[in-house]
Amino acid sequence: MERTLIILKPDAVQRGLCGEILSRFERKGLQVAGMKLMRIPRALAEKHYESHKGKGFYEGLLNFMTSSPVVVLALAGKDAIVIARKMMGATFGSKAEPGTIRGDYGVSNSFNLIHGSDSPEAAARELGLFFKSDELVDWTPANQVWVYDLSKGQPE
Ligand code: RTP
Ligand code: MG
Repeated sequence: MERTLIILKPDAVQRGLCGEILSRFERKGLQVAGMKLMRIPRALAEKHYESHKGKGFYEGLLNFMTSSPVVVLALAGKDAIVIARKMMGATFGSKAEPGTIRGDYGVSNSFNLIHGSDSPEAAARELGLFFKSDELVDWTPANQVWVYDLSKGQPE
């Protein structure tokens, strides 16, 4: 099973949308492997978004991400990274398709509710930034055998 780092950004927390957004992932069949509310320290936000350093939106992005608490999630599942990115929708709320999280809950381009890792390398790096190893829990949901076809030994 693959793990991805999701951040419910300050606007999602302030607007009371965390439950709705988490519900979507749960109903899809992705499993919570880690979850906490935190205020992101500036240095951590800088590390997390270091690939955007120097871009016009970088300072504003750091200010936004550190302005108020976020909920960080580690979600697990087969192809969890790509699935979560699809469910999030396009980066800008104004462009994101209806049916996606950004498309259904926001209109802003900067306040876009959610972050998700965009590759296996990014997921490994970001999970390491936001979670200590003992904060990630390996467990088997009771409904696992109905979420996946496990008859061939691999989840399908
Ligand atoms: P994220 O990293 O937060 O999951 O979002 P993303 O992959 O869809 O988009 P990315 O290009 O990585 O941009 C990171 C975040 O920066 C803000 N942004 N603002 N105003 C702008 O032009 C602009 N461009 C990006 C967004 O909050 C975006 O999620
Ligand atoms: Mg990104």
